[in-house]
Amino acid sequence: MDGRVAIVTGGTRGIGEAICLSLRDAGYKVAAGYGGDAAKAARFTEQTGIPAWKWDVGDFQACAEAVREITAALGPVDILVNNAGITRDATMHRMKHEQWLEVIHTNLSSCFNMCNAVFDSMRERGFGRIVNIGSINGQAGQYGQVNYAAAKSGIHGFTKALAQEGAARGITVNAIAPGYIDTDMVRAVPPNVLEKIVARIPVGRLGRAAEIARGVAFLVADDAGFITGSTLSINGGQHMY
Ligand SMILES: NC(=O)c1ccc[n+]([C@@H]2O[C@H](COP(=O)([O-])OP(=O)(O)OC[C@H]3O[C@@H](n4cnc5c(N)ncnc54)[C@H](OP(=O)(O)O)[C@@H]3O)[C@@H](O)[C@H]2O)c1
Repeated sequence: MDGRVAIVTGGTRGIGEAICLSLRDAGYKVAAGYGGDAAKAARFTEQTGIPAWKWDVGDFQACAEAVREITAALGPVDILVNNAGITRDATMHRMKHEQWLEVIHTNLSSCFNMCNAVFDSMRERGFGRIVNIGSINGQAGQYGQVNYAAAKSGIHGFTKALAQEGAARGITVNAIAPGYIDTDMVRAVPPNVLEKIVARIPVGRLGRAAEIARGVAFLVADDAGFITGSTLSINGGQHMY
């Protein structure tokens, strides 16, 4: 859609990069966020023409400032994709308090920080599309991931609550729960563990980042205004409920 402005956090690689490309190709003005990998972000901008901003999505003030800068550069934000996320896996008896906090801040507080920064403007303009990237592991749980599963599960509740607040103002809020997608995050899983995971996916392979982007493009479209508070599971049939 020509002219609409979209922010994609964690947009310079992995699933976020695919989302940026898909939205750019659909005619949106896209701003990508990233956390620290400046070299990758520079390559991304060079190759795609999509500008990238660096800020920590876990930092409330930094999110507000980033939204101000992007608004000044591209215009008011119509679409927000909360995609940035990390894992810091450990079983409960080994997990450090910092690992818990880092994942909760980066994966869940980020949704509050970013939505808080764009919501007033969306309300005033009577239009908004917010998509939060959850996870199959927030739906089903996962050994060694109490922090990640709690944060992602929290995203799903957050989405349903905010959807109710936005509904009368033309703002939709939805979540996507990806299964295992072939990105750096999943490549970090030991090969023997990954083999067992793939064996449990009925489609018989990892997902592709572009297959998550497909869902985002669907949910942010102008004519998706009746879809709100939903979670779209894109997981190759691994978890159905
Ligand atoms: N891959 C999967 O199988 C899978 C499955 C379910 C859900 N997900 C979710 O999908 C989303 C994307 O995953 P991915 O696999 O594409 O991850 P990824 O390849 O590891 O990329 C993560 C992105 O998030 C950014 N980021 C990390 N911490 C940040 C912070 N504090 N502030 C701002 N940006 C930050 C990174 O920036 P830098 O490049 O600067 O580090 C990077 O752009 C995540 O929310 C993840 O939990 C992924």
